[in-house]
Amino acid sequence: MHDDDDIVSNDSGEASIGALIESRLSRRAALAGLAGTAVFAALGGKAGAQGGAPSSFTFKEVPHVNDPTHHVPDDYEVQVLIRWGDPVLPGAPAYDPAKQSGASQALQFGYNNDFLGLHALPAGSTSGDRFLMVVNHEYTNTNLMLAGIGEGREARLRADKPQAEIEMAAHGGAVLEIAREGRRWKVVDGSRYARRIDVNTPMRIAGPAAGNDKMKTSADPAGTRVLGMFNNCAGGETPWGTWLTCEENFYFYFVGDQAKHPDQALAKRYGLGRTISYAWGQHFDRFNFEKEPNEPHRFGWIVEIDPYDPQAMPVKRTALGRFAHEGCHHAVAKDGRVVCYMGDDSRFEYVYKFVTSKPWNPTDRAANRDLLDEGTLHVARFDEGGKVAWLPLIHGQGPLTAENGFASQADVVIGARRAGDLLKATPMDRPEDIEANKINGYVYVALSNNGSRKPEQVNPANPRAKNDHGHILEIAPKDGDHGSTEGTWSILVAAGQPGKDEGTKYHPETSADGWLTCPDNVTFDGKGRLWIATDSSEIAGIADGLYACDVAGPGRALTRQFFAAPKGSEVCGPTFTPDDRTLFLAIQHPGEGKGSTYETPTTRWPDFKDGMPPRPAVIAITKKDGGIIGS
Ligand code: FEO
Ligand code: CA
Ligand code: CA
Repeated sequence: MHDDDDIVSNDSGEASIGALIESRLSRRAALAGLAGTAVFAALGGKAGAQGGAPSSFTFKEVPHVNDPTHHVPDDYEVQVLIRWGDPVLPGAPAYDPAKQSGASQALQFGYNNDFLGLHALPAGSTSGDRFLMVVNHEYTNTNLMLAGIGEGREARLRADKPQAEIEMAAHGGAVLEIAREGRRWKVVDGSRYARRIDVNTPMRIAGPAAGNDKMKTSADPAGTRVLGMFNNCAGGETPWGTWLTCEENFYFYFVGDQAKHPDQALAKRYGLGRTISYAWGQHFDRFNFEKEPNEPHRFGWIVEIDPYDPQAMPVKRTALGRFAHEGCHHAVAKDGRVVCYMGDDSRFEYVYKFVTSKPWNPTDRAANRDLLDEGTLHVARFDEGGKVAWLPLIHGQGPLTAENGFASQADVVIGARRAGDLLKATPMDRPEDIEANKINGYVYVALSNNGSRKPEQVNPANPRAKNDHGHILEIAPKDGDHGSTEGTWSILVAAGQPGKDEGTKYHPETSADGWLTCPDNVTFDGKGRLWIATDSSEIAGIADGLYACDVAGPGRALTRQFFAAPKGSEVCGPTFTPDDRTLFLAIQHPGEGKGSTYETPTTRWPDFKDGMPPRPAVIAITKKDGGIIGS
């Protein structure tokens, strides 16, 4: 999410008051700690490093740029796999910007591709040449999609009903079958797995909130069925091969006056009506919370989808809590329980993990079907001294009682943010992707930025006031067990431009092209090396990009720019094939930004044809000699 940014809804006071006095000490200690490790970078102008020691990566860095196209090192190649509007389902028309409709869009590839996941075909295969690729379609830039609608976010509020239907069909997700021939990837035409999911796809509600009064609407008096998902940002997968897709800024889609919502505690804490970004509520009553006050409670969840079964109904897994979900990557505890790490991507929101009650069953896929409905949601408190505690959000325990507004576990999950407030979780600088590294067992938390943090609001894990550039935490679970409720943490990278921005932290040999800002999605290659995608780098005058970073050895915390994105776009969904010879990226909202319109966009990437608007697209990057990406 870029041009909508986020809103601050955590104004409960829990954010900082308890830590006010400690915080000044913490900040000093944290900064001193950074300096004391001898990796506090104060670097100069060494540009475009060739690679080699101390980094394990050998690619030649791409420079910091901000121009209409993408950039990779010279010995790499970019292939466009699929673009917004390309046919996905049988009967889909070819993309024609002059002939768009909701009905066509429902059969075509959606807008703003974000999370990418790969599921081997056939299931369990290790050939690495055929996959189901799952794709999130987070949101729409209506002003870049449609002629004559004007500029910026306001354009969306002018959408008429047919235009709103195009937007609604362009949200959600897609399942594609993809195959490799040599170094070339293609989407398989007519695949029986091909699927589009959008704002009107029927879904089941499962877990503690299913059937609760707060989930009931006039269209669904039982509170167990909902139409669609939207603002699906990042995601993950389960060990049994299903796709977890995460509803993020759902509150932008509902119109209404917050003061008129019947549940003021929930409406305020989730920012209902604070920023309205779409006209849907003008055309469809369910997006008007003055008419349907419970409809917003049915969004902001993790959705589980089986990509191997196109008929399978998606399921909202409410046990994992309701908030602005960024991603949902899993690890397996020593006893076989599944642990899902999740961030609530707004300023001053929390980091969570969900631990299933039972271990997963590797030999019987069907036995895992409803595993995510039972377990414990935890919220993180990052303490002084590098300790982290995972606090269980269980109805009836501690402050999560009826007197405090929690009559059941349904109330806890629907109001997870409020539950986190009461447990005094640590307010973070926009938690984005959180992912465990299978090689070293550590967990990496991308914190995008938080320009709203005041000096008196800093805490040990968020030590910078006005943190415009973000940082990355590294968590070591106690005894290497993701099921543990304890662990330790440290800051791996504090982003920003060294020598210009205060409090940056990198390896001292990070080059003038290697620093980054606003970390968002992260992934690991087969060697466990960290790759960091960014969102909103224009704050530093550069394009978003993808950066490679060792987490061990002499190159630890040395970030190197591998990819630079076309102007206005954000880099999402970094995913390697298991052989590390292809890297897929989702390039989201090319041409976004002030003054950019359908008629005069700041880029026409990737087609660069007159009259063709910019199109979000999935790309495949390979090395020309067929080698390992980044080598
Ligand atoms: Fe949709 Fe948190 O980025
Ligand atoms: Ca983002
Ligand atoms: Ca994101």
